[in-house]
Amino acid sequence: MRRNTEHSWGSLARFFHWAVVALVVIQVPLGFWMVEVYETYTETYAEDQLPLVLRTNMVHHTIGFLILILAIARLSWRLANPTPGLPQGLATYQRLLARTTHVVLYILLFLYPLTGWAALSAYEGEFPIYFFSIDSMPRIVPQVPEGSMFDYEFFGDIHKFFWKLGAALLGLHIAGAFWHEYVRHDGVLSRMLRGQRTGSDTV
Ligand code: HEM
Ligand code: HEM
Repeated sequence: MRRNTEHSWGSLARFFHWAVVALVVIQVPLGFWMVEVYETYTETYAEDQLPLVLRTNMVHHTIGFLILILAIARLSWRLANPTPGLPQGLATYQRLLARTTHVVLYILLFLYPLTGWAALSAYEGEFPIYFFSIDSMPRIVPQVPEGSMFDYEFFGDIHKFFWKLGAALLGLHIAGAFWHEYVRHDGVLSRMLRGQRTGSDTV
């Protein structure tokens, strides 16, 4: 397993990055679909919709937990390794923008699964919290009646609100990656894709 160096990302770090991207690409539309399926089910009381409600929840929760596990593994691996620096010659505001975007993306990778998990944990009724075929994952906050301070809605609203921040940051992050590749030609995207880079030295 190739580790990171001060100039390149190792294979495990790159695997973590692109595995999370692939899961997030599925997870966000799935989240909206799951909510839609649930709303149709509660509005029409169509019993034949219940298996789809449970299946969409099962996949959404499971992918969410996988993202959480990958985020923990990724951050631990990052802390145990050297990290390639940003390319030389960037303005202070550009370095700050890149670093802040990365930090907030990391925070969202934890906040998302944790608030989803907390929302279902706080729910007073019986609703499964899935991880693959396990349907009773432990609760991480106490069950409370609706209308209490830290109820389902409190965590659910945080969970729903932050996708907009996430989407804006991802737009910025992706634009940044392409700017490095096609305007600055400093190899930042290729070192995340292939682990090697061409271009100016890092600092
Ligand atoms: C990175 C991981 C996750 C992402 C990106 C994500 C994303 C989303 C999105 C986009 C929605 C739809 C929001 C809306 O309708 O406005 C949603 C809903 C939901 N997600 Fe997740 N989710 C993640 C992890 C989880 C996990 C681990 C759980 C539970 C174990 C979970 C439980 C829920 C629930 C209960 C809702 C419905 C919220 C409501 O309608 O009040 N999510 N999620
Ligand atoms: C869910 C989507 C994504 C998330 C959560 C994410 C998150 C991150 C984070 C946190 C870092 C910092 C790595 C670190 O310093 O440990 C990073 C680096 C990077 N990301 Fe993403 N990213 C996503 C999607 C993308 C996409 C779609 C691209 C390309 C089009 C991309 C290109 C890069 C590049 C090139 C780097 C390396 C920056 C460097 O070498 O300094 N990312 N990403």
